[in-house]
Amino acid sequence: MAGLRGADPLVGRVGAIEKHLALIGFMGAGKSTIGREVAERTARPFVDTDAEIEGLHGPIPELFERGEPEFRRLEEQVVAEALAGPPAVIALGGGAVLSEKTRERLRVHADTVLIEVDVDDAWERVKDSNRPLAQDPEAFRRLYDERQATYRASLRWAADDSDGVLLGALRIAVSEGLPDVGQVIVAADERVLQLHAAPIEGITLTLPAGEAAKKLDVVEWLWTEIEAGRQGTVLAFGGGSTTDVVGFVAATYLRGIAWIAVPTTLTGMVDAAIGGKTGINTEDGKNLAGAFHFPESVAIDPAYLATLPEAERRAGMAEVVKTGLLAGQEVWKLEEHEMIRACAAFKAGVVLSDPYEREGRRTILNLGHTFAHALETGSGYTVTHGQAVALGLVAALRLSGLPTDPVDELLRPEPVAADLDAAWASLKRDKKGEGVFVLLEAPGKPVVTTVSDGDARAALASLIRK
Ligand SMILES: NC(=O)c1ccc[n+]([C@@H]2O[C@H](COP(=O)([O-])OP(=O)(O)OC[C@H]3O[C@@H](n4cnc5c(N)ncnc54)[C@H](O)[C@@H]3O)[C@@H](O)[C@H]2O)c1
Ligand SMILES: [Zn+2]
Repeated sequence: MAGLRGADPLVGRVGAIEKHLALIGFMGAGKSTIGREVAERTARPFVDTDAEIEGLHGPIPELFERGEPEFRRLEEQVVAEALAGPPAVIALGGGAVLSEKTRERLRVHADTVLIEVDVDDAWERVKDSNRPLAQDPEAFRRLYDERQATYRASLRWAADDSDGVLLGALRIAVSEGLPDVGQVIVAADERVLQLHAAPIEGITLTLPAGEAAKKLDVVEWLWTEIEAGRQGTVLAFGGGSTTDVVGFVAATYLRGIAWIAVPTTLTGMVDAAIGGKTGINTEDGKNLAGAFHFPESVAIDPAYLATLPEAERRAGMAEVVKTGLLAGQEVWKLEEHEMIRACAAFKAGVVLSDPYEREGRRTILNLGHTFAHALETGSGYTVTHGQAVALGLVAALRLSGLPTDPVDELLRPEPVAADLDAAWASLKRDKKGEGVFVLLEAPGKPVVTTVSDGDARAALASLIRK
């Protein structure tokens, strides 16, 4: 993928975070349809520059009759105004990037994605429209060929559906191998290194396998070992534990250097490596020290999952089911690569809607997790996160008045041994007395709502073995 690494001078401010997302490409590529979907999923305003021009100045065919230069001038103004507003999703007319000024403004203010389309599909979609430049198939083809170079010169990356746009906007790629990343220091999970070659040659630092790496002494060791300059990049190779700790080291070393995530667990691919949350555990509990620091790129290669133990795969599936319930899409029925792509894109959309969790939109990602954390604590961490999330989803579905069958069929959760009072105390601490939970009005319609203590405690009790 061209320009996969965020050509942004501010490390950690990757892709479309706090920037416009500008969709360019030929007429008929689907920029308006995809743009509208992406805007909805990222809770951003949507601007369709052609519609904006028509609203302000009248029908485009009539404007073209006054000559294309006049139309391009109006278009340049409309794009400039959109780019002066708050971060939006902007679908640009097919010829907008012919303007040098527009290209320069996009370079400064937007993350620009080319929506790709082949010329035959584009013609099929627009041939019956009144678009002035789509009246003759031969001229249409010529224009398509002429424009390609301009598009290529403006894009940072390319996509052909809304999931692709959301993934690209956070520099996430689901594919084989690694993009061209230049020189990096690899910090890898010990177990993963026994099973797989590091994704890139060079210095490799070996971390304890799994959760044992999320500790301050590991962080201190990495701080002294990485010896990267301000321009250095560290690559995390492993599951969520590895990306959490290495991301945290990248966030803090020299006040922040660039990092790349190469997740090797299903949980890492659909959840942990996405969204910029990094951190470690302290004596007092999990993830109590951390920072937001987005990876410059996330390279997801599902082939790594071939060696993943069954229990780890099931833990990942709990997050997949959570995602499918939130998205209202039976993602678990998709083939593995597509399933991972859909889940990663869903999380990317939510994250882009609230990158630093200032507006509470990321809260929905906690579906089932309030109960899960309570069970983990109440069992003295003998219940795994995956088991706990499966049960938490059951509780959330029951409180939502919805059938629990997708969870039952896919995850087969069984009540676990835990101390109800300890679990309840943990849940109350978690809620800080607010009693707010993520539930579903229906699959795909999460709501953040209050639940009475009586109902919440009964739901929790039903997850614990008598
Ligand atoms: N930052 C976030 O947004 C976020 C989200 C979810 C979870 N997390 C964190 O992620 C951590 C859990 O991560 P995880 O579930 O990915 O597990 P993990 O990183 O703890 O790894 C689990 C085990 O799997 C092994 N492993 C990893 N990849 C393997 C492979 N391809 N083949 C064989 N074995 C492999 C590891 O060595 C380890 O023993 C938790 O600490 C959790 O807090 C963070
Ligand atoms: Zn989880």
